[in-house]
Amino acid sequence: MISSDKIPGKTPGSFSISNMGDHVPYFPFRIDQEDNLWLIKNPVSGLESELNEAAFWLLKLSDGYRKLYEIVAEISKSYKISKKNVFDMSVPLLEHLTREGMVWWREERLNYWKYPAPEGVLWDLTAKCNLKCKHCVVSAGEESPEELNFDECCSLIDQFANFGVGQLILSGGEPMVRKDFFEVAEYAAGRGILIQVATNGTLIDESAAQRLASIDACAQVSFDSPKAAVHDEFRQHPGSWEKTKEGIELLIRAGVPVTLAATVTTINVDDIPRLYELANDMGVQTFRILPFVPFGRGKYADELELAPSRMKELTAFLHCKKEEGDGVNIAPMEFECTFSPPPEQDLDADTRIGCDGAISYCTVTSNGEVLPCNYFSGADVENVKEKDFQWIWDNSRFLNYFRSMKASDVKGICQDCDWLPICRGSCVAANFAHGDIFQSNCHCWLVNQGE
Ligand SMILES: C[S@@+](CC[C@H](N)C(=O)[O-])C[C@H]1O[C@@H](n2cnc3c(N)ncnc32)[C@H](O)[C@@H]1O
Ligand code: SF4
Ligand code: SF4
Repeated sequence: MISSDKIPGKTPGSFSISNMGDHVPYFPFRIDQEDNLWLIKNPVSGLESELNEAAFWLLKLSDGYRKLYEIVAEISKSYKISKKNVFDMSVPLLEHLTREGMVWWREERLNYWKYPAPEGVLWDLTAKCNLKCKHCVVSAGEESPEELNFDECCSLIDQFANFGVGQLILSGGEPMVRKDFFEVAEYAAGRGILIQVATNGTLIDESAAQRLASIDACAQVSFDSPKAAVHDEFRQHPGSWEKTKEGIELLIRAGVPVTLAATVTTINVDDIPRLYELANDMGVQTFRILPFVPFGRGKYADELELAPSRMKELTAFLHCKKEEGDGVNIAPMEFECTFSPPPEQDLDADTRIGCDGAISYCTVTSNGEVLPCNYFSGADVENVKEKDFQWIWDNSRFLNYFRSMKASDVKGICQDCDWLPICRGSCVAANFAHGDIFQSNCHCWLVNQGE
């Protein structure tokens, strides 16, 4: 029985570095220089901190590859200070940044992997949006001056096609606000790439629907409630529900397969069963729920985040509908595996973590950065304006760190869970938003049982 009604998430408790010499610290974020000071910013809280030169080197060498004792030895040699002194000076900073969720620890060094091209790339074509949703992970609003122009988009599409990327999910911001949206989508389709557009659906008229149909695109449209007022309040735009509903209907009429995507929060969770019925009536192909994660603009609206017990009730309802099998297709849901008996097999020591970011998909942000997904913006990553996409895919330290993470890195309750071999700790984004990427998944109802 689940008794917790608390908002999920654990602030890591006391962390002691005394036995961590043989462990590998990783500081994955950008460090900016201003005169003789270095600045770091916590992408979750937005707080900035200043570093001196020695602290800069400590974090630079915390590259996910060196063990702490090796870092200490290198700094001790360069600055001609005893290892003990370097260690003692490093401890407060590392402990502080670990508690802040900015230094990550593993027992093993990261590995460099050559993986085949991702099956799908979610590409934010713009940061601009005609809505201003409360929860928006990318804080969309105005166009960014760094966005790729049409020629840069075509060159990137050529790189995707030559590398073998199978599908592009054109997202944003609102991708359809770009004046050249159809030219970009058509160019990619012409290179043999499947197109999905992730849209708020408000800009779809008959001709847009036809044009998407003509390139065999499919669409994921955000629709959060059967009640116009709830959707409009959440999306912060009166009349958007009506336009989105009409957009979905036009797409279906034009023959474009539609996934209806509802971001689930405290304000719409009770509406989702009725939304599912509406999705059935409208004739969408797939119904998908996205749990809200407090990131981007969403970090200022953390009251929207659902207690795991509420998400369990909703997932159980939709899982039942799925078993009945006579309604619209329901996309896989987090922790759904816990409604079936646990697997027979034990955890293989090399089983990867439950996130396939950097394995079968990744994100290219509106300013060209390559990330496992949008929840890790702020990481020190490469940009497609400077390097070829395939080079980045093969060489990015951040992507390779993701590929190196194992289910056995997950701490606490998950290690004793019978479902770990299939769930593998699930998506790590919510954990990151809650300050400790390797905590047992803070959205899972089994982790939060009894609290
Ligand atoms: C970032 S939007 C971009 C595409 C388009 N503008 C739209 O709203 O569908 C893609 C999807 O992510 C969802 N989303 C945005 N912020 C989120 C958050 N903090 N947590 C979970 N889902 C989020 C949106 O509701 C939408 O379904
Ligand atoms: S969730 Fe989509 S529609 Fe809403 S502000 Fe973000 S990009 Fe725009
Ligand atoms: S307790 Fe951990 S391993 Fe088990 S289902 Fe939940 S997240 Fe997955």
